Amino acid sequence: MPSLTSLLSARFAAALTHAFGEDFARRDPVIRSSQFADFQANVALPLAKELKSKPRDIAAKIVDNLDLTDMCEPPEISGPGFINLKFTPGFLARTLEAGDATAPPEDAGSQTVAIDYSAPNVAKEMHVGHLRTTVVGDALARTHEFLGNTVIRQNHIGDWGTPFGMLIEHLLDVGVDSAAAAEVSENPNAFYQAARAKFDSDEAFATRARARVVSLQGGDEQTLELWTTLVGYSRAYFNRIYSLLDVTLRDADLAGESTYNDVLAEVCDELEAKGLARISDGALCVFPEGFTGREGEPLPLIIRKSDGGYGYATTDLAAIRNRALGLGVDRALYVVGTPQAMHFEMVFTVAREAGWLPEGVSAEHVKIGNVLGSDGKILRTRSGAPLRLAELLEEAVARAKTTLAESSADFSAEEAEEVARIVGIGAVKYADLSVAHDTSYTFDLDRMLAPFGNTAPYLQYAGARIRSIGRKAEAEGVSAAELATATISLDQPAERELALSILGFADVLAEVAAGSQPHRLCTYLFDLAQAFTSFYEQCPVLIADTQLRNSRLRLSAIVLEVLETGLGVLGIRVPERM
Ligand code: ARG
Repeated sequence: MPSLTSLLSARFAAALTHAFGEDFARRDPVIRSSQFADFQANVALPLAKELKSKPRDIAAKIVDNLDLTDMCEPPEISGPGFINLKFTPGFLARTLEAGDATAPPEDAGSQTVAIDYSAPNVAKEMHVGHLRTTVVGDALARTHEFLGNTVIRQNHIGDWGTPFGMLIEHLLDVGVDSAAAAEVSENPNAFYQAARAKFDSDEAFATRARARVVSLQGGDEQTLELWTTLVGYSRAYFNRIYSLLDVTLRDADLAGESTYNDVLAEVCDELEAKGLARISDGALCVFPEGFTGREGEPLPLIIRKSDGGYGYATTDLAAIRNRALGLGVDRALYVVGTPQAMHFEMVFTVAREAGWLPEGVSAEHVKIGNVLGSDGKILRTRSGAPLRLAELLEEAVARAKTTLAESSADFSAEEAEEVARIVGIGAVKYADLSVAHDTSYTFDLDRMLAPFGNTAPYLQYAGARIRSIGRKAEAEGVSAAELATATISLDQPAERELALSILGFADVLAEVAAGSQPHRLCTYLFDLAQAFTSFYEQCPVLIADTQLRNSRLRLSAIVLEVLETGLGVLGIRVPERM
């Protein structure tokens, strides 16, 4: 999978060495796609000061030393000193013919990346916010894996804390093996609400619940067993949603809050020993550099409450220490809602101050924006209750089924079910992924399922259409072997545009990974599908002469490959037919 910008960068490095010496070889030019050419390199301008010379003159000298004869038309200098680059059709065709448009890159990634995502809470319903962190996190995990990085998924579920006292007591009241208990894996909220209601109204129950928290924290065996049962029920619920969503999280990826119980005291001791933590109002606190309140007073991160209990911050400090020092990651990504931005900034700062985040290791909060209802408020049911995610997903599948029934009638019942699932779930996931992760969007099934616009069904339909072209060609006797070796010609502008679009795949994947931005891949795939549509409108395929027909069929097949691979990296499938 060639990256066009790295191919160009390498040539620029050689030219810079030639023109100005070794020292300049690694001044990476900024190479961007441009409306004036295929790409524009900004390399002369940043050197002007150092070389004490006019950018246009520097650009001219670079161009003199730039050997791109096998790749580009003669480069042109534009504006104050940009270098415009345009690939020759021959180069584009040869690169496509090499046949690795979707093969993972040769210089496979060498990073270890921990990705904290999904992270729902035990005995609670997953809400649309969790849907989004799950879908975005999973796309990032797949992207890094595709690029050859080692991914460590960390599902930091909320499986510890004071609510477990009342949850366990309620579990005992309804009976550990009862249907009411098993409801946690079906409709967790009902169980939680029932426990909550009792806690608020029944003093004896509340007392039992508080005592239960103490036993739980004290490591009482019977209590831990009950806790394990409860977590098990929830796990079944999470797994049902994950499988419905076609998400790659497995039990082995669970690293819930309870994982860190044994090291919380140590974390606090270490911070105290390093002089970073001190008692304030009875609680052990860290005051990280640079965090102040309204009146300029230093803001505390509470790591041990005055009653001796630990909270969310302590767990996250233990987690980051483990990720950086224990798991040895290069990057730790946290795909979590925007409202937790301050929490993570403080945790990251404390971790740096404590020496738990060595230089070269990054901790990044991938902020997730809200999912809104049509009223512009956070999505809820009409009655105001949090939405049941499973129901929402089932509705998407049901709607997809209705739409599909209208368009093509000849599906078997089984195929209709399968395609509706791929399209319905794909639509919801894609809607989540196609907007920048830190902005909010309105949950609107009609728009998500629309067969036009930047939606999953549009892309899936483009894929299915290429498949059908392939089937027609096959029926007309065109063999796969013949296509695999067909010479590609790019004489028509639409063909050239399409080729260029295909070859942008590697660069966009690198960008998605570097900036944690799956929406860039969506935009890319949408552009690719549109480039294909223009190509298909302007360039007859099946009725063209044999050589041209084969060239165009091969080009179409590569588009399908990129679409499928790209959507696959996002966790979305393309049905055989639509
Ligand atoms: N369980 C939390 C929630 O539902 C999210 C946890 C995110 N991850 C973390 N390391 N704090 O809001």
